Amino acid sequence: MMNIIIEKMGENYLSQIAELEKTCFSTPWSENALREELANQFSRFFVALCDGQIAGYIGAHNVVGEVYITNVAVFPQFRRQGIAEALIKKLMDLSQTENAEFITLEVRKSNIGAINLYTKMGFKEVGSRKNFYENPREDALLMTYRGEI
Ligand SMILES: CC(C)(COP(=O)(O)OP(=O)(O)OC[C@H]1O[C@@H](n2cnc3c(N)ncnc32)[C@H](O)[C@@H]1OP(=O)(O)O)[C@@H](O)C(=O)NCCC(=O)NCCS
Repeated sequence: MMNIIIEKMGENYLSQIAELEKTCFSTPWSENALREELANQFSRFFVALCDGQIAGYIGAHNVVGEVYITNVAVFPQFRRQGIAEALIKKLMDLSQTENAEFITLEVRKSNIGAINLYTKMGFKEVGSRKNFYENPREDALLMTYRGEI
């Protein structure tokens, strides 16, 4: 079993998270976009460290108690070891502390791995958004968690 540590993301991790974005997404966030996000008072970012190495991250906003997950990503070599689960759990704990009402997100309809992950964590499908994504164009599923937060 690996030693996973989840911590609040600091500016020191920006370049590695920009690399992770490039690895995982067709329209990745740049380092500068991530820096601006991180500086936003509403943003909630955590990184997962495995033996001191960056393995994944989660980014979200909490605006008036409505938490919106913008990105979850784990480097391929660290996948299927519970890292995304640990990141989401950390955000759930923080959201509960902040008295949030719900946590919501969009996900590509074809992204079965991510949909399984969110379903396992208690998210429910609540709708869809036509042609939400580009590159390639695809519908989004809207999933929301209203459990123990
Ligand atoms: C989706 C992603 C974040 C999952 O990260 P991860 O650390 O591998 O996920 P976990 O190990 O915590 O998986 C938890 C559960 O999610 C589901 N899951 C995760 N990846 C899966 C896959 N490829 N296929 C099917 N189910 C999957 C499983 O139910 C898994 O539980 P199990 O391993 O006990 O079966 C990772 O695959 C990734 O970075 N993908 C590219 C970026 C992306 O699509 N992000 C989501 C955008 S909305």
